[in-house]
Amino acid sequence: MSNPTIACGHGIGAASMSPPSALLSVGLIGTGSIGADHARRLARTVAGARVHSVFDVDSARAAAVGAEVGAEVRRSAGDVIEDPAVDAVLVASADESHAEMVLASIGARKPVLCEKPLAPTVTESLEIVAAEQAAGRMLVQVGFMRRYDEGFCSLKAAVRDGVIGQPVTSHCVHRNATSPPGFTSAMSFTSSVIHEVDTMRWLLDEEIVAVTVVPTRTSPLAPEGLRDPQIVLLETESGIVVDTEVFVNCQYGYDVRAELVGSLGAISLDQPSSSTVALEGARRRAVVWDWRDRFASAYRSEVQQWVAAVRAHATEGAERPVATGAATAWDGYAATAVAESAAVALETGARQAVVLEARPPLYT
Ligand SMILES: NC(=O)c1ccc[n+]([C@@H]2O[C@H](COP(=O)([O-])OP(=O)(O)OC[C@H]3O[C@@H](n4cnc5c(N)ncnc54)[C@H](O)[C@@H]3O)[C@@H](O)[C@H]2O)c1
Repeated sequence: MSNPTIACGHGIGAASMSPPSALLSVGLIGTGSIGADHARRLARTVAGARVHSVFDVDSARAAAVGAEVGAEVRRSAGDVIEDPAVDAVLVASADESHAEMVLASIGARKPVLCEKPLAPTVTESLEIVAAEQAAGRMLVQVGFMRRYDEGFCSLKAAVRDGVIGQPVTSHCVHRNATSPPGFTSAMSFTSSVIHEVDTMRWLLDEEIVAVTVVPTRTSPLAPEGLRDPQIVLLETESGIVVDTEVFVNCQYGYDVRAELVGSLGAISLDQPSSSTVALEGARRRAVVWDWRDRFASAYRSEVQQWVAAVRAHATEGAERPVATGAATAWDGYAATAVAESAAVALETGARQAVVLEARPPLYT
């Protein structure tokens, strides 16, 4: 078997960095867990950018992150987005605020990297798609970072090269140790399974056309009212069925698995682990605790490639300020459409068709 590889963005380093005067000035909205991480990445490990200013409704968080990375702290999102000194915007605030921030960035004609989901509802996602079309160009990249993970990229290469023959089915697992307060059964789809949805659309290069949620016993450790775990079946255009177990209170760590089964063979993600400890009659491999550890390298590549694409657009006339192969606003919309259909499927207990709008030429 050939060793399948696909450009994953690793290895972009200081060599591509421009003089300090050409650094991309990024305005950051949301300085919580991932926002603070992105700020540090931009300030320390990503070449060609700096954090110019930050805003968070939690002003103490914004002040702490601003001080850490040497960025100015603003009093509103608009103050960041509309500042002429801000070249591009990174949105890492809570899901329900994404549409407002992305629409404002498009209105200001600024490239924007928005954390997933693009928006939690189809209505908002379509507003963003419409705004981008009205602007006449792509400005939005969505933070589906698995597209930059080495393991997922090798799955993508295997499918592209026909290594496993024709894909016929896929099995996925998405487990988190515990869910944050206020997490709902529908958020298991709009916030968690949405990653599997984007991954499968990208890996298989097909739309998801139907979704079913299969009831299973709820964990006694799940918070009151939360259906957890849940089993989600995704059906693609060509009839591939993808089963995903989403379990956001599995207690033991962060565990993301994926196996693609084809007509000739199967390919699955390796579990990242730095070592195996043999002790007291057992060999133990660590399970990562959360998404930060598991996808650290993917987040770095994602942000690096976004910065490089925005700079190439500004200085070298590249067609769009969105990294090649990254999730666009259309991908964000399609993923949210599937997640929203899953929420309906959960309510009705029936298979739910996913009906997408016609794809506009901007996204073909
Ligand atoms: N790509 C991934 O794997 C990944 C991982 C984690 C989080 N996320 C996404 O990133 C976003 C942030 O997640 P998090 O884990 O950092 O959450 P968090 O709760 O730690 O941080 C969110 C921050 O947004 C701020 N905020 C909320 N509404 C705001 C508004 N209107 N304007 C400005 N700030 C506002 C909050 O005060 C908070 O500081 C979410 O959309 C989440 O789904 C993506």
